[in-house]
Amino acid sequence: MRPTAVGTPVDRADARSKVTGTACYTVDVVLPDLAHAVVVQSTVPTGRIVRIDAAAAERAPGVLGVLSHANTPSLAEVPTFPQGPAGQRRPPLQDDTVNFDGEHLAVVVADTLHHAAQAAALIDVAYDREEAVTTLEAGDELPPSGIFGEAPDSVRGDPEAALARAEVRLDATYTTPTEHHHPLEPGATVAAWDGGRLTLYDSTQWVSGVRDAVAMTLGMATDQVRVVSPFVGGAFGSKAMVWPHVVLAALAARHVGRPVKLVLSRAQMFTSLGYRSPTVQRLSLGARQDGTLTAIVHAVTQQTSVFEEFVAGAGYISRSLYACPNVAVRHRLVRVNAPTPTVMRAPGEAVGSFALESALDELAAQSGVDPVALRLRNFAEDEPQEGLAWSSNALRECYQVGAERFGWERRTTEPRSMREGRHLVGWGMASATYGVHSEAAAARVRICADGRILVTSGTQDLGTGTYTTMVQVAADALGVPVERVTAALGDTDLPPAPHSGGSQTAASVGPAVWSAALDACSKVLALAEQGDSYAEILTRHGIEFVEGRGDARPGASASRFAMRSFGAHFAEVQVDPELGEVRLTRFCGVFGAGRILNPKTARSQMIGGIVGGTGMALTERTVTDRRLGRVVSPNLSGYAVPTHADIPWIDVCFIDEHDPHVNALGVKGIGEVAIVGVAAAIANAVHHATGRRIRDLPITPQTLL
Ligand code: MOS
Repeated sequence: MRPTAVGTPVDRADARSKVTGTACYTVDVVLPDLAHAVVVQSTVPTGRIVRIDAAAAERAPGVLGVLSHANTPSLAEVPTFPQGPAGQRRPPLQDDTVNFDGEHLAVVVADTLHHAAQAAALIDVAYDREEAVTTLEAGDELPPSGIFGEAPDSVRGDPEAALARAEVRLDATYTTPTEHHHPLEPGATVAAWDGGRLTLYDSTQWVSGVRDAVAMTLGMATDQVRVVSPFVGGAFGSKAMVWPHVVLAALAARHVGRPVKLVLSRAQMFTSLGYRSPTVQRLSLGARQDGTLTAIVHAVTQQTSVFEEFVAGAGYISRSLYACPNVAVRHRLVRVNAPTPTVMRAPGEAVGSFALESALDELAAQSGVDPVALRLRNFAEDEPQEGLAWSSNALRECYQVGAERFGWERRTTEPRSMREGRHLVGWGMASATYGVHSEAAAARVRICADGRILVTSGTQDLGTGTYTTMVQVAADALGVPVERVTAALGDTDLPPAPHSGGSQTAASVGPAVWSAALDACSKVLALAEQGDSYAEILTRHGIEFVEGRGDARPGASASRFAMRSFGAHFAEVQVDPELGEVRLTRFCGVFGAGRILNPKTARSQMIGGIVGGTGMALTERTVTDRRLGRVVSPNLSGYAVPTHADIPWIDVCFIDEHDPHVNALGVKGIGEVAIVGVAAAIANAVHHATGRRIRDLPITPQTLL
């Protein structure tokens, strides 16, 4: 590839439309005769519905219809990820059972949102309440049946014997709370029927997943459903799978014979799109006196709902991040009267790394080895679990470059030894890693006689920069400036592409766009004499446009190499010794993630991940009332995400990494590696500042004082 556009900080293709407000998100969609749906949710964690009285709601002004289990047709189950695209297998409004507080029980449709909300408040539900398990600690542990096709438990070597023999031993339990994604745009669907055909505008990470799930649920042919999602106001995993409100919008529209918009409220976001399960992680480390790891045992307990299983493999990071001959990983689940959890940015690694990277810091302190030196000492030359060679691994450079940029050598070893005025200052660091993923994807590139070039693919841009990077890839493949190229995405009428999760979009769709562009180019050149532009050639032949098609799929290298991205995080905190307030004052993240298509949008992604990790460390926690099994303060003051005032300038750096094995573009993906290890780096900095080891997130003034 001639690197002209790729690798340069091209401005976002969709920047102007977003800044000026012309970008149409799902919540902005307006159709003629549009009606509005409001969801009514359960207020008990478990039991039976004795009665749903909708009479008052049905008589209320503007009401067009009410759906509940009493009048909802039978719906088919859709398997959950990765067997199918559903976030929750159990379809909504099918019977009188309630499995968690906040479960959808009814939908009210009215001519205006105000009327729908007013009527929804009039729905009267009587329950026969049963005994609920409302916390992870209160239930029985059971082994999951599998974790995305992997065994939940694994052992290499003899960890117990190695622990018994270890010169340095550490045994600690780390806990993380329920976390919610809280994208700015809530879950939202607009459904419009045209005879037997259904069009859905949906805020989603997976247009074709929505199409397939809704078609399956309603017993329709896939080609009778079209899903459109040109802009998504954030997702972080909450829109990676298809949740019940999407099909409710379709049912509501059919019920009232009008297009319907259904937007979840912020409070409903706590129970409608999954969440990150809380974890209890026991970590045992064995090491030689010099810090060389000899044993890791990582045992994780997470929760799932009472009616189905979801588990993210929080312990897996301990198998592959460091060289260690004896490693055991174990996952257990507890069934709780709560919604089914789901993926959330770096599912598994984000929380697993908090335990592992905190424990490494504890080991560094115990063995008197600098935290960076300790990690370099345990660097894995090959992937330790499978024994495969890395396709590329820039972790050592990440440590070195990060330490240099941050000034790590000026760190004094002792806790409480650095101060700024009356504040305690702490420096901490952690490693990051995330797998390289890709799936089959298709794209088309059209070269027009007027010189314009159009890229199309049924992928989606979550705000990550897909519109921009796909334009860059096509521009370079064709040797034209980016200004000539536009992209259309987020529509199931376009060539199929996978879900935008697992940091896989650039690595999956990029190679498809590249090959579609080359295909289009060769079609023009077949007509050509030397030296003319595409437009001149097409015009001379009287051809309006040519179209190239590209299909890309994961290559055979995936079985020969271990493919991961890596990074290193360095954090500085200042702690107020009287108030216990922790402020992040400096942060540096360095990443080896293959080719960076656009350093501007990529930097923005990494900042987002680091901000997410800062929330994990310091503010984010969903609190559930044990007795009621209900989220306490379901709003953005009850659940605090970091704001601008909480975040310092963040130094982001990418190692120039050329990986010939991952895919044709050398792209590894960046969305998720950014958050992995951030919470540990901050917790380690808090320890350095205060001497207090906090093993329970988030680190609040209450925990520190
Ligand atoms: Mo991402 S949590 O894989 O949508």
